[in-house]
Amino acid sequence: MENFLLMAFLFLAITIILPSTHGLDQSPKGVDKWFKKLPHAKAKMTKLHFYFHDIVTAKNPSAIQIAQANNTFQSPTFFGLVRMMDNPLTVNPEPNSKIIGRAQGIYGSASFEDIGLLMTLNLVFTNGKYNGSTLSILGHNQIFHEYREMPIVGGSGVFRLAKGIATAKTYQVDNTTQNAIVEYHVVFVSYKVFAEIPDRGIDLEVTDSVKNNDVVKSEL
Ligand SMILES: *[C@@H]1O[C@H](CO)[C@@H](O)[C@H](O)[C@H]1NC(C)=O
Ligand SMILES: *[C@@H]1O[C@H](CO)[C@@H](O)[C@H](O)[C@H]1NC(C)=O
Ligand SMILES: *[C@@H]1O[C@H](CO)[C@@H](O)[C@H](O)[C@H]1NC(C)=O
Repeated sequence: MENFLLMAFLFLAITIILPSTHGLDQSPKGVDKWFKKLPHAKAKMTKLHFYFHDIVTAKNPSAIQIAQANNTFQSPTFFGLVRMMDNPLTVNPEPNSKIIGRAQGIYGSASFEDIGLLMTLNLVFTNGKYNGSTLSILGHNQIFHEYREMPIVGGSGVFRLAKGIATAKTYQVDNTTQNAIVEYHVVFVSYKVFAEIPDRGIDLEVTDSVKNNDVVKSEL
Protein backbone atom coordinates (compact mmCIF):
# COMPACT_ATOMS: atom_id res chain seq x y z
CA MET A 1 0.00 0.00 0.00
CA GLU A 2 2.75 2.40 1.02
CA ASN A 3 4.69 1.50 -2.11
CA PHE A 4 1.62 2.10 -4.22
CA LEU A 5 1.11 5.54 -2.69
CA LEU A 6 4.74 6.38 -3.17
CA MET A 7 4.57 5.29 -6.81
CA ALA A 8 1.35 7.25 -7.34
CA PHE A 9 2.96 10.32 -5.79
CA LEU A 10 6.08 9.99 -7.93
CA PHE A 11 4.00 9.51 -11.05
CA LEU A 12 1.99 12.64 -10.27
CA ALA A 13 5.08 14.63 -9.39
CA ILE A 14 6.77 13.62 -12.66
CA THR A 15 3.72 14.34 -14.83
CA ILE A 16 3.22 17.69 -13.15
CA ILE A 17 6.83 18.80 -13.31
CA LEU A 18 7.94 17.50 -16.72
CA PRO A 19 5.69 19.39 -19.16
CA SER A 20 6.68 22.79 -17.86
CA THR A 21 9.18 25.39 -19.03
CA HIS A 22 10.90 26.46 -15.83
CA GLY A 23 7.91 25.88 -13.61
CA LEU A 24 5.51 27.37 -16.13
CA ASP A 25 2.46 25.15 -16.55
CA GLN A 26 2.00 24.81 -20.31
CA SER A 27 -1.10 22.61 -20.19
CA PRO A 28 -4.33 24.28 -21.43
CA LYS A 29 -5.43 24.59 -17.82
CA GLY A 30 -2.13 26.21 -16.89
CA VAL A 31 -2.50 28.69 -19.74
CA ASP A 32 -6.06 29.53 -18.60
CA LYS A 33 -4.80 30.15 -15.08
CA TRP A 34 -2.06 32.38 -16.40
CA PHE A 35 -4.64 34.48 -18.29
CA LYS A 36 -6.76 34.80 -15.17
CA LYS A 37 -3.80 36.26 -13.35
CA LEU A 38 -3.21 38.84 -16.08
CA PRO A 39 -5.19 41.64 -14.36
CA HIS A 40 -2.60 41.45 -11.59
CA ALA A 41 0.39 41.05 -13.88
CA LYS A 42 3.15 43.56 -14.30
CA ALA A 43 4.17 44.63 -17.78
CA LYS A 44 7.90 44.34 -18.17
CA MET A 45 10.35 45.28 -20.84
CA THR A 46 13.03 42.84 -21.98
CA LYS A 47 15.99 43.60 -24.21
CA LEU A 48 17.92 40.91 -26.02
CA HIS A 49 21.03 41.21 -28.11
CA PHE A 50 22.50 38.47 -30.28
CA TYR A 51 23.93 37.61 -33.69
CA PHE A 52 22.07 35.71 -36.38
CA HIS A 53 24.09 33.49 -38.72
CA ASP A 54 22.53 32.99 -42.14
CA ILE A 55 24.71 30.26 -43.60
CA VAL A 56 23.65 29.76 -47.23
CA THR A 57 26.83 28.43 -48.84
CA ALA A 58 28.65 25.82 -46.78
CA LYS A 59 29.00 22.07 -46.34
CA ASN A 60 26.22 22.31 -43.77
CA PRO A 61 24.08 25.34 -44.67
CA SER A 62 21.54 26.55 -42.11
CA ALA A 63 19.35 28.33 -44.70
CA ILE A 64 18.25 26.31 -47.71
CA GLN A 65 16.34 27.34 -50.81
CA ILE A 66 12.97 25.61 -50.93
CA ALA A 67 11.23 27.47 -53.78
CA GLN A 68 11.64 29.97 -56.57
CA ALA A 69 9.57 31.47 -59.39
CA ASN A 70 10.39 30.54 -62.96
CA ASN A 71 11.94 33.99 -63.49
CA THR A 72 13.51 34.50 -60.03
CA PHE A 73 17.02 34.59 -61.43
CA GLN A 74 16.10 37.08 -64.18
CA SER A 75 14.70 39.40 -61.49
CA PRO A 76 17.07 42.09 -60.14
CA THR A 77 15.61 41.43 -56.67
CA PHE A 78 15.41 37.60 -56.95
CA PHE A 79 11.66 37.93 -56.56
CA GLY A 80 10.11 34.65 -55.45
CA LEU A 81 13.22 33.10 -53.92
CA VAL A 82 12.24 31.36 -50.69
CA ARG A 83 14.53 29.82 -48.10
CA MET A 84 13.83 27.84 -44.94
CA MET A 85 16.28 28.43 -42.12
CA ASP A 86 17.33 27.02 -38.79
CA ASN A 87 19.96 29.65 -38.10
CA PRO A 88 22.05 29.73 -34.95
CA LEU A 89 21.80 32.78 -32.67
CA THR A 90 24.98 33.55 -30.79
CA VAL A 91 26.12 35.90 -28.05
CA ASN A 92 29.03 37.30 -30.08
CA PRO A 93 29.54 37.69 -33.84
CA GLU A 94 32.03 34.82 -34.05
CA PRO A 95 30.32 31.71 -35.46
CA ASN A 96 31.80 29.56 -32.68
CA SER A 97 30.55 31.83 -29.89
CA LYS A 98 27.94 30.59 -27.42
CA ILE A 99 24.58 29.63 -29.00
CA ILE A 100 21.52 30.96 -27.17
CA GLY A 101 18.85 29.88 -29.62
CA ARG A 102 17.81 29.38 -33.21
CA ALA A 103 15.96 31.46 -35.78
CA GLN A 104 13.59 28.98 -37.38
CA GLY A 105 11.35 29.95 -40.26
CA ILE A 106 11.07 31.18 -43.80
CA TYR A 107 12.25 34.24 -45.64
CA GLY A 108 11.35 35.10 -49.18
CA SER A 109 12.12 37.84 -51.66
CA ALA A 110 8.85 39.75 -51.82
CA SER A 111 9.73 43.04 -53.48
CA PHE A 112 10.09 43.92 -57.19
CA GLU A 113 12.16 46.99 -56.32
CA ASP A 114 14.95 47.15 -53.78
CA ILE A 115 15.59 43.86 -52.04
CA GLY A 116 12.88 43.34 -49.45
CA LEU A 117 12.39 40.06 -47.66
CA LEU A 118 9.26 38.80 -46.01
CA MET A 119 10.50 37.36 -42.70
CA THR A 120 8.33 34.85 -40.89
CA LEU A 121 10.23 33.18 -38.14
CA ASN A 122 10.38 32.10 -34.56
CA LEU A 123 13.27 32.93 -32.28
CA VAL A 124 13.53 29.70 -30.30
CA PHE A 125 15.58 30.23 -27.16
CA THR A 126 17.54 27.30 -25.77
CA ASN A 127 19.44 28.78 -22.89
CA GLY A 128 18.94 29.52 -19.21
CA LYS A 129 15.63 30.97 -18.04
CA TYR A 130 14.44 31.52 -21.63
CA ASN A 131 15.03 27.89 -22.64
CA GLY A 132 11.90 26.66 -24.45
CA SER A 133 10.37 30.13 -24.86
CA THR A 134 9.87 31.73 -28.27
CA LEU A 135 9.28 35.10 -29.94
CA SER A 136 7.58 35.36 -33.34
CA ILE A 137 8.70 37.86 -35.98
CA LEU A 138 6.64 38.88 -38.99
CA GLY A 139 8.50 41.60 -40.81
CA HIS A 140 9.80 43.43 -43.84
CA ASN A 141 13.56 43.21 -44.18
CA GLN A 142 15.38 45.45 -46.67
CA ILE A 143 18.70 43.74 -46.20
CA PHE A 144 20.83 46.51 -47.75
CA HIS A 145 19.44 49.18 -45.42
CA GLU A 146 21.38 49.93 -42.26
CA TYR A 147 18.57 49.26 -39.77
CA ARG A 148 15.59 46.98 -40.45
CA GLU A 149 12.80 47.23 -37.97
CA MET A 150 10.58 44.17 -37.69
CA PRO A 151 7.61 43.58 -35.42
CA ILE A 152 7.64 40.98 -32.66
CA VAL A 153 4.04 39.85 -32.98
CA GLY A 154 3.85 37.41 -30.09
CA GLY A 155 5.61 34.94 -27.89
CA SER A 156 5.31 31.74 -25.91
CA GLY A 157 6.55 30.40 -22.60
CA VAL A 158 7.91 33.20 -20.43
CA PHE A 159 7.30 35.55 -23.40
CA ARG A 160 3.52 35.02 -23.67
CA LEU A 161 1.74 37.98 -25.32
CA ALA A 162 5.02 39.67 -26.20
CA LYS A 163 4.87 42.73 -28.44
CA GLY A 164 7.91 44.59 -29.60
CA ILE A 165 10.52 45.38 -32.17
CA ALA A 166 13.51 43.51 -33.53
CA THR A 167 16.13 45.68 -35.22
CA ALA A 168 18.51 43.95 -37.60
CA LYS A 169 21.81 45.40 -38.75
CA THR A 170 24.20 43.53 -41.02
CA TYR A 171 27.47 42.83 -39.25
CA GLN A 172 29.14 41.02 -42.11
CA VAL A 173 28.03 39.79 -45.53
CA ASP A 174 29.74 38.00 -48.37
CA ASN A 175 27.98 38.94 -51.63
CA THR A 176 29.32 35.85 -53.39
CA THR A 177 28.35 33.16 -50.88
CA GLN A 178 25.45 35.25 -49.48
CA ASN A 179 26.50 34.14 -46.01
CA ALA A 180 25.67 36.84 -43.51
CA ILE A 181 26.07 37.62 -39.84
CA VAL A 182 23.36 39.97 -38.65
CA GLU A 183 23.25 41.80 -35.33
CA TYR A 184 19.83 41.81 -33.65
CA HIS A 185 18.59 44.13 -30.94
CA VAL A 186 15.22 42.98 -29.66
CA VAL A 187 13.06 44.94 -27.25
CA PHE A 188 9.59 43.90 -26.20
CA VAL A 189 6.95 44.10 -23.53
CA SER A 190 5.58 40.94 -21.92
CA TYR A 191 4.05 40.11 -18.56
CA LYS A 192 5.19 38.89 -15.21
CA VAL A 193 2.33 37.12 -13.47
CA PHE A 194 2.43 36.44 -9.78
CA ALA A 195 1.97 32.90 -8.52
CA GLU A 196 0.18 33.92 -5.32
CA ILE A 197 -2.97 35.38 -6.93
CA PRO A 198 -5.77 32.98 -5.98
CA ASP A 199 -7.58 30.95 -8.60
CA ARG A 200 -10.98 32.56 -9.04
CA GLY A 201 -12.44 29.45 -10.65
CA ILE A 202 -13.62 30.43 -14.12
CA ASP A 203 -12.59 27.10 -15.66
CA LEU A 204 -16.25 26.11 -16.15
CA GLU A 205 -17.05 29.33 -17.93
CA VAL A 206 -14.16 28.75 -20.30
CA THR A 207 -15.31 25.19 -20.99
CA ASP A 208 -18.85 26.42 -21.77
CA SER A 209 -17.60 29.10 -24.12
CA VAL A 210 -15.44 26.64 -25.97
CA LYS A 211 -18.41 24.26 -26.29
CA ASN A 212 -20.57 27.04 -27.66
CA ASN A 213 -17.82 27.87 -30.11
CA ASP A 214 -17.77 31.43 -28.79
CA VAL A 215 -14.96 33.79 -28.27
CA VAL A 216 -14.00 33.38 -24.62
CA LYS A 217 -14.90 36.58 -22.77
CA SER A 218 -12.09 37.86 -20.64
CA GLU A 219 -12.47 39.09 -17.10
CA LEU A 220 -9.90 41.81 -17.48
C1 LIG B 1 6.56 31.37 -65.97
O1 LIG B 1 5.30 31.01 -65.42
C2 LIG B 1 4.22 31.75 -65.94
C3 LIG B 1 2.97 31.40 -65.14
O2 LIG B 1 2.87 30.03 -64.92
C4 LIG B 1 4.07 31.44 -67.44
O3 LIG B 1 3.00 32.18 -67.98
C5 LIG B 1 5.36 31.81 -68.14
O4 LIG B 1 5.30 31.43 -69.49
C6 LIG B 1 6.56 31.13 -67.47
N1 LIG B 1 7.76 31.66 -68.07
C7 LIG B 1 8.79 30.89 -68.40
C8 LIG B 1 10.00 31.61 -68.94
O5 LIG B 1 8.79 29.69 -68.28
C1 LIG C 1 16.77 23.30 -22.33
O1 LIG C 1 15.65 22.48 -22.07
C2 LIG C 1 15.74 21.17 -22.61
C3 LIG C 1 14.46 20.42 -22.27
O2 LIG C 1 13.35 21.16 -22.64
C4 LIG C 1 16.95 20.45 -22.02
O3 LIG C 1 17.08 19.18 -22.64
C5 LIG C 1 18.19 21.27 -22.26
O4 LIG C 1 19.29 20.67 -21.61
C6 LIG C 1 18.03 22.68 -21.74
N1 LIG C 1 19.19 23.46 -22.12
C7 LIG C 1 19.79 24.31 -21.28
C8 LIG C 1 21.02 24.96 -21.80
O5 LIG C 1 19.37 24.55 -20.17
C1 LIG D 1 27.26 43.82 -51.69
O1 LIG D 1 26.15 44.22 -52.47
C2 LIG D 1 25.53 45.40 -52.03
C3 LIG D 1 24.28 45.64 -52.86
O2 LIG D 1 24.55 45.53 -54.23
C4 LIG D 1 26.49 46.56 -52.07
O3 LIG D 1 25.87 47.73 -51.58
C5 LIG D 1 27.71 46.23 -51.22
O4 LIG D 1 28.67 47.24 -51.33
C6 LIG D 1 28.32 44.91 -51.66
N1 LIG D 1 29.38 44.54 -50.75
C7 LIG D 1 30.56 44.19 -51.16
C8 LIG D 1 31.55 43.85 -50.07
O5 LIG D 1 30.87 44.12 -52.32
